Amino acid sequence: MKLAIIGAGNVGGTLGVAWAQKAGHDVFFGVRDPKSEKVQGLLGKLGGKAKAGTVAEAAAFADVIVLATPWPAAQAAIGAMGDLKGKLILDSTNLLARGPDGISLEIGHTTSAGEKVQGWAAGASVFKTLNSTGFGNMANPVYNGVKSVMFVAGDDAANKPKAIDLVGQLGFEVIDAGPLRNARLLEAHAMLWIDLAVARGQGRDFAFAVVRR
Ligand SMILES: NC(=O)c1ccc[n+]([C@@H]2O[C@H](COP(=O)([O-])OP(=O)(O)OC[C@H]3O[C@@H](n4cnc5c(N)ncnc54)[C@H](OP(=O)(O)O)[C@@H]3O)[C@@H](O)[C@H]2O)c1
Repeated sequence: MKLAIIGAGNVGGTLGVAWAQKAGHDVFFGVRDPKSEKVQGLLGKLGGKAKAGTVAEAAAFADVIVLATPWPAAQAAIGAMGDLKGKLILDSTNLLARGPDGISLEIGHTTSAGEKVQGWAAGASVFKTLNSTGFGNMANPVYNGVKSVMFVAGDDAANKPKAIDLVGQLGFEVIDAGPLRNARLLEAHAMLWIDLAVARGQGRDFAFAVVRR
């Protein structure tokens, strides 16, 4: 599959490498500076199999676009993607505010970053996913033989299996978390992981998994 990864930082870089190496996908990083040391390092790691260019070039190349920029850059990045008709967007962003009492969701709980992204990305189908654990877990989601969990929320039922399959190829157990409005739940869930990691001494090497009877 042709994948565009917009933003080649912790999350974008990790996902691009994992999808190229574990599943053989064609990865195109959409970045501000394709010649930067960071981006060239990623391309080197992938042995020339991946490409890097502008956000517009990456989006035009791909069937599936992963939004992995900081939130403040998200709207401009989507605006730069060009025609999004028929494309899938996996939205990994979190819109967090940091205050004296810790983190909170900057836009509250009656909407979500995922829904905002859908509002900007006319013609595309947005799925909220890959936002609720650390990038280290995206590189290796398996703990002692148990897959950690990743959720996918989105309204496009016909294309949801494709989004779920892609996330599953990273090694997660993937659970359909319902419509895109449930991004509100997934973004709150992300805060729990971040709070535990950053403020409660858990560090980054832990993940949530689902067990069943
Ligand atoms: N870090 C995590 O563990 C984690 C986990 C889940 C979700 N998230 C979410 O994932 C997103 C990315 O986080 P991160 O930790 O990967 O951040 P990061 O390491 O700072 O990387 C962000 C990337 O976005 C690029 N970027 C910034 N503005 C851009 C623009 N206008 N167009 C294209 N690319 C642009 C940056 O490029 P330059 O190199 O040019 O600055 C950088 O490569 C955030 O929304 C975050 O909330 C993070």
